[in-house]
Amino acid sequence: MTKQRVIIVGAGLAAFVLADRLYKEKEVVIITKESIQQNNSLKAQGGVAAAIDTNDSAEIHRQDTMKAGVQYNDPSAVEVLTKEGTERIKEWIHAGFPFDKDQYGKILLGREGAHQKRRILHVGGDQSGKYLVSYLQEKLRKNIMIIENEMAVECIMWEGRCKGINTIDNRDHYHSYYCDHLILATGGCGALFETTSNDRTVTGDGIAIAYKAGARIEDIEFIQFHPTMLKQNSKGHHFLISEAVRGEGAILVDQNDIPFMAKYHKDLDLAPRDVVTRAMVTEEGLGNQVYLKIDMIEHFSERFPQISSLCEEMNINWKSGYIPVIPGAHFLMGGIQTNLKGETTVPGLYAVGETASTRVHGANRLASNSLLECIVFANRLADWLIKKEETTSIIQASRSYNPSTRECIDLPTIAEIQAKMMKYVGIEREEKGLKKILEWLRSYQVHHISSITDKFYSKKQIEQLHMTTVAWLIASSAIERKESRGAHYRSDYPSKNDEQWGNRRIIRTFQQKA
Ligand code: SIN
Repeated sequence: MTKQRVIIVGAGLAAFVLADRLYKEKEVVIITKESIQQNNSLKAQGGVAAAIDTNDSAEIHRQDTMKAGVQYNDPSAVEVLTKEGTERIKEWIHAGFPFDKDQYGKILLGREGAHQKRRILHVGGDQSGKYLVSYLQEKLRKNIMIIENEMAVECIMWEGRCKGINTIDNRDHYHSYYCDHLILATGGCGALFETTSNDRTVTGDGIAIAYKAGARIEDIEFIQFHPTMLKQNSKGHHFLISEAVRGEGAILVDQNDIPFMAKYHKDLDLAPRDVVTRAMVTEEGLGNQVYLKIDMIEHFSERFPQISSLCEEMNINWKSGYIPVIPGAHFLMGGIQTNLKGETTVPGLYAVGETASTRVHGANRLASNSLLECIVFANRLADWLIKKEETTSIIQASRSYNPSTRECIDLPTIAEIQAKMMKYVGIEREEKGLKKILEWLRSYQVHHISSITDKFYSKKQIEQLHMTTVAWLIASSAIERKESRGAHYRSDYPSKNDEQWGNRRIIRTFQQKA
């Protein structure tokens, strides 16, 4: 019997966990925009949260996740994450995965903001994502097909069902791949913002593609800004200074060595990320510069080898005890709506990891729940796909084509999108700025374009098209939500409004025009 073909777009942790679970039963193909070394999972520092300690429980982890998410999370999704998360991580431990341990062989657990307990498992100090993903990439390299340097353009739709994906390579040649199940695991959209911890390839492609295929997109106004990236003179990707550093005792101070978090929250430097980020914006508005004071952490370079060596590469003398930091876009809580099995609202199309909205994170993700989300929900999707036996009629051979003509299109540059998103849809938003950016985005009319494959745009143009579409989705949702909740902060509506917004989600589908 021919195996069902599963195509996974993306090459981060969710993609590889799914591939690992499926490759014996299905023909698995991974397609990724650049190299498999470019994704957010590889950059994840803090680690993976799981209630494995005897003084902890999935229930306490559930409470922390709900509280950080401002109770806007779906409680059943959170229960799945925290309960199954503990089980999945124990499986990794029993399989011998080398989480960091103390001299007696006990797993070391780190602490991060808004966690009541120490529950962050880490590897290689601050290189957790790299170890987790590389381990799977190495294991699977020979067992699955990996196609690098091809960006997903749009879904191949047939009678309302997703049947595959059109891609474009670095020479601007197009390819069509057919499959039984198409999974989007493309990460969030941090690279839409000028300052971000995300890889520059993370431009919301999966969201734009799913939207154009008719899938529901929801909660996309909820973008988390991480307080501490290394402050550099350049724009774009900024290296993260993990929250785990504050978990080990580091504090935020101004240029006069004065700590300021007591003015803003009782949990001080380990307050929720949105609180810390806005506190930093306020301090900067007062003309202060913000530093992370680390001199109380013993053996800093052993616990944080990646951070210390990167500081050295950037000529930042971390041994002085101070690291200059700024906030930047970090994580998307919403995305492509899925159920708890990973199904989107389009048959044949699935989403997993940051690009999916399972409603598990609510209005603000709890630190180190993202790698856990990848592991838990990729396993659930695998269970579901393994059970699915029917093969969906036409599976055609892949084909490639090199179009002789190309259409022109007027698009904003990537730098323009990033600057405007940061300015108008960033840490603090308000009506006037949101109107301004929406007017600008609407002038390009790209979110109304239904088919882009026929037009034979270049790879670069398609990336700009995806970014413009996702920017419009975020800005149009942010203007509609007239309240502040978690990571979505409206300076003109600074309070939470449960009466109007407690149970209301902003959902975008392609038919809906604005
Ligand atoms: C960090 O290490 O601070 C980031 C981890 C996360 O976002 O969960």
